[in-house]
Amino acid sequence: MLRSRHIVLTLACLLPAALAAQDKPRVAASSPEAAGEYLMIIGSCHDCHTAGWTAAKGKVAKDDQLTGNPVGYKGPWGTVYGKNLRSIAARQSEDHWVKVMTTADDGEGKLPMPWHNTALMTEEDIRNTFKYTKSLGNKVGARLPRNAKPGADPFGEYVDLTAKQGAPLPPVDTTKKPAGPETKKPK
Ligand code: HEC
Repeated sequence: MLRSRHIVLTLACLLPAALAAQDKPRVAASSPEAAGEYLMIIGSCHDCHTAGWTAAKGKVAKDDQLTGNPVGYKGPWGTVYGKNLRSIAARQSEDHWVKVMTTADDGEGKLPMPWHNTALMTEEDIRNTFKYTKSLGNKVGARLPRNAKPGADPFGEYVDLTAKQGAPLPPVDTTKKPAGPETKKPK
């Protein structure tokens, strides 16, 4: 009797947790890999981890995708590179990938990798990005320079993400009506 009540109580406790897990937003697709493929496009992963993705507006041969981007990202954190995720997925476990993505690599991860966003991804979605990346197979991509320390000159090509101050904004002309939709004449 005591035992069966215990089981019922345990089930009653587990059920809301299971339902809550189902409630979490996640991508539905025909397979985990298809979900991962989609997530990595709309999650902008290619923009930083696939060489030439932005310039080619995403038209990069699948065989070359996610093999790393040799253009560095320079900022107050130094200069870092969008790594070859296919080599990483081939070497590391799915659980480790989840840990890196949710803990900003144990707090060691540098910007502009959007750690603050990937930490909020539903675990299933993160796992699907791993499964997709792994399904592409390992491939050596372009050679990436070593990270440069803050203030140090990086090797090769890089973009500078340091905030700079431009000219002050011109003063607002308060005599003019604001150019909003309400001032537009209907066609
Ligand atoms: C704005 C550029 C940018 C975007 C977008 C981006 N990354 Fe990154 N990512 C980086 C950089 C740069 C690093 C290296 C950070 C460092 O060295 O600390 C990195 C690191 C990583 C790592 C850790 C690699 C390692 O060394 O273990 C993983 C995994 C990763 N990214 C996956 C992703 C996934 C998946 C997405 C999409 C959801 C994504 N990234 C989106 C730039 C980006």
